[in-house]
Amino acid sequence: MKHLIDSIDLSVADIERLLDLADDISNHPVKYQDACKYKKLATLFFEPSTRTRLSFEAAMLELGGSVLGFSSADSSSATKGESIADTARTVACYADIIAMRHPKEGSAYVAAQSVDIPIVNAGDGGHNHPTQTLTDLLTIRREKKRLDNFTIGFCGDLKFGRTVHSLIKALSRYENINFIMISPEELQIPEYLKEDVFKKNNITLTEVERMEDVMPKLDILYMTRVQRERFFNEADYVRLKDSYILDLDKLETAKKDLAILHPLPRVNEISVKVDNDSRACYFSQAMNGKHVRMALILDLLGVQV
Ligand code: CP
Repeated sequence: MKHLIDSIDLSVADIERLLDLADDISNHPVKYQDACKYKKLATLFFEPSTRTRLSFEAAMLELGGSVLGFSSADSSSATKGESIADTARTVACYADIIAMRHPKEGSAYVAAQSVDIPIVNAGDGGHNHPTQTLTDLLTIRREKKRLDNFTIGFCGDLKFGRTVHSLIKALSRYENINFIMISPEELQIPEYLKEDVFKKNNITLTEVERMEDVMPKLDILYMTRVQRERFFNEADYVRLKDSYILDLDKLETAKKDLAILHPLPRVNEISVKVDNDSRACYFSQAMNGKHVRMALILDLLGVQV
């Protein structure tokens, strides 16, 4: 791999290699503490972020490297009209690897066409978020000890949720995964995913509106936030924002070993009372994000430890 733009860029072998490396890093952190000495990561975030930007920065610092960058478009020359390509070419003069988040779909691809250093897509609009996918896969593998043979329910904003789109694409390569989509009709997964992932690969897709109807079947429940920033119309957002609120009552019928994931941030779609339930995995998921990003940085920079 030279860049990571789309979760579909990751083969099953790439995923296994990166998750194995992430596990080794988390078990033997000292071994990796100088692996990226003198290397620099630039984080170019044209959109807000807590987990992705800070876990990338923590990842590079824990590998002994340095970080530079910006956390909003306002503090970059994008406000003066500079293109993504020119920004990437400029930053490539100062850094060895770039992690970039941008509200426009395809922005990371454009950056990757413009530079020779690795570009990592840290989220491009409603399209893709491949490092969140690696985070989710590591969490599933740590919780279930496998990446096949399970039933996963995706719940909430499946139309705009790039983490959902990325994870569906990655999981479509594994055997015997039963996909259940739980959303209001307006927030169903996009048609291109139904065609390109489900129909093309003969994978069964189940779509329901009520979480309660499928809860007992689920091995994994992937909750998502209804994303205000992606709606064209505030009234639609207000109407749909509280479509799903996971609480302890709704978990009554769930399996005892259900794994509840959420890419975070959460607004109110998971009650805080669920946080202490043994099935809640979303904060360990956030920690896993640092380990997979450490693995990815090493892999893309070709650093052997
Ligand atoms: N999961 C995720 O992308 O979170 P942030 O928006 O805080 O980076």
